[in-house]
Amino acid sequence: MTERADKPEMMEEYTDYTLDMFSRSVGRDHAEIRQFAKWRKLVEGADSYTFEVSHLAAQRPKVAIRRESGEEFDLISFASYNYLGYSYHPEVLAAAKEALDLYGLGATGSPLLNGTFQIHKLLEERIVDFFGQEDYGVSLFSSGYGANVGVISAFIHKGDHVVLDRSSHASLIDGAILSQGKISLFRHNDVEFLEKVLKRLDHKNSRILVCCEGVYSTDGDYGHLKAIGEVSKKYGATVLVDEAHSLLVAGENGRGVCEEQGVLDEVDMIIATFSKSFGGVGGCLYAKKDITNYINYYARSRMFSCALDPAVTGGLVKALELAAGEDGRRKRKRIIDNANYLRSKLEGKVDIGSSTSWIVPVIYGDERLTLPLSDYLQRQGIDISLMMFPAVPKNRSRIRAFVTSEHSLEQLEKGAEVLLKAADKFNFLLE
Ligand SMILES: Cc1ncc(COP(=O)(O)O)c(C=O)c1O
Repeated sequence: MTERADKPEMMEEYTDYTLDMFSRSVGRDHAEIRQFAKWRKLVEGADSYTFEVSHLAAQRPKVAIRRESGEEFDLISFASYNYLGYSYHPEVLAAAKEALDLYGLGATGSPLLNGTFQIHKLLEERIVDFFGQEDYGVSLFSSGYGANVGVISAFIHKGDHVVLDRSSHASLIDGAILSQGKISLFRHNDVEFLEKVLKRLDHKNSRILVCCEGVYSTDGDYGHLKAIGEVSKKYGATVLVDEAHSLLVAGENGRGVCEEQGVLDEVDMIIATFSKSFGGVGGCLYAKKDITNYINYYARSRMFSCALDPAVTGGLVKALELAAGEDGRRKRKRIIDNANYLRSKLEGKVDIGSSTSWIVPVIYGDERLTLPLSDYLQRQGIDISLMMFPAVPKNRSRIRAFVTSEHSLEQLEKGAEVLLKAADKFNFLLE
């Protein structure tokens, strides 16, 4: 692996771009596609396209990747949200294989029609048992994205209101847009701001849905769920918490940040994804049974899309069983120790924002650094995601490290060392 600051003119040409540059053209000839193709060729020519690299095996802490050029790298991974390592756990794989043999490769139908299998019902029951609340149900979706889009757009209608934390994930925003409700944003985790927003709305006559997250995927901090719940209830609003990055990981029993902050009984809807701590794919709504029954029938991303893959569902049932038991308890402790360890190596040296969870961002700011920085990090031995606008605000671009329970201290140490080296080289070390 070599350091590559050796192509300055080429780098300037292709790095001087932002994601939105190519998406604004109007007219019949699609100038943006031509311009994007030209830029893409430049990046390829410089062998610096670090997105969509092929991973050659499971998302373990050590991964092998192959770039478009054919060049292969062995890397330590901080890019995968396989938080508890269940995507490659032998018992999870065995359960998925068993379901594969029984049910076949795909569901081949909408869940509402022929696509529901017994394994889906089992997963629903197990999730309800896991939370242990009366009269609750689960509505399964084939992705977490689809769950947010489907739930919000089925629950909120024209003239209603969706109130979102400004750091909300794209799927919450897209669900709000699709619902045709009126959208309001409140400053991240700012409950006074939220109250000002709610006061302005016609809360006596219209439906209001307040959306927030357990752990925020770009900042790695916790949602202030208790205070958000209290103020929302004061104005008769329904509260949805997206626990995509926190279910199975946060809370003593893994029931998420809602458990950790003692608000399970006050939250109306919990969204989970199966692509993260479960190590699979898919998503769900957990809510009172009357709500999940309605959503099953009316969420368009569920009705008009094939059901969750049955083989994956077999694996999800096992991952949940493991996470609910001793394995989960051990891993929940490990992931927190690991995240604290990585943070202790970075704190005060680089800007890690407000991170307090297993998501540790390192903010470098200028989005034009993204490709050379990403190229550098790969060549220095780590697989890690970089985020820029529109995923984060302009000039708040960041490297995002996902810590898992499966990382060793040596791997975390090496990760921190590479990040600090990169910060020095690209000039974002704190003074
Ligand atoms: C907060 C949040 N919600 C929903 C999703 C969508 O989940 P999925 O990738 O499982 O579709 C993500 C994905 O990263 C997310 O971060």
